[in-house]
Amino acid sequence: MPQEVRPVVEYTDREGRRVIVRRARRDDIPEITEIEELAFPKSPYPTYVFLYNLSNNPDGFLVAEVSGRVVGYIIFETRPWLNEGHIVSIAVHPDHRRRGIGTILMKEAERRIAERGYDVVRLEVRESNFGARRFYERLGYEVERREPGYYSDGETAVIMVKRLRK
Ligand SMILES: CC(C)(COP(=O)(O)OP(=O)(O)OC[C@H]1O[C@@H](n2cnc3c(N)ncnc32)[C@H](O)[C@@H]1OP(=O)(O)O)[C@@H](O)C(=O)NCCC(=O)NCCS
Repeated sequence: MPQEVRPVVEYTDREGRRVIVRRARRDDIPEITEIEELAFPKSPYPTYVFLYNLSNNPDGFLVAEVSGRVVGYIIFETRPWLNEGHIVSIAVHPDHRRRGIGTILMKEAERRIAERGYDVVRLEVRESNFGARRFYERLGYEVERREPGYYSDGETAVIMVKRLRK
């Protein structure tokens, strides 16, 4: 497992607030679960998904903290067999959206993926999730293809990809 060079990173959001991005901890799980249920009311990840990532993917599970509160999370992984980074999930608390927090989390994940030697990032997004699709487009992701029936309710996934700059 590669060592993290900078375990805690500080950013400033669009409103000048200090945003700390750090690895998720076990005591963050209640706040993360609350954000998840608000962000994905129809299909939130169950808590065990977060516990699994805490144990098995601790370097790929980050939170954004503002004034001591967790306001967003991102889970990413690297897939050596595909030679790419992969965004598993991202969500920001509705009260904290459109302030750049999601962008901060994505940039930090991309930075860490690049540090591990990968220059391609892929992700899936529900076809109907226009807000997230716009968000990813703004970050430089392009539609690669569609995968019908990808989600358990039958919805099509849009597969998006970004080549990271060296
Ligand atoms: C997608 C999400 C993580 C974005 O987080 P955020 O902190 O609001 O994102 P940012 O503030 O960094 O947004 C950056 C830009 O992305 C675009 N964007 C973000 N959310 C958008 C939306 N709902 N509709 C259209 N464009 C959007 C905008 O261009 C925005 O810049 P602007 O506010 O100056 O117009 C957040 O809306 C969320 O948690 N959604 C629910 C969960 C989800 O859908 N996750 C992705 C699953 S694949």
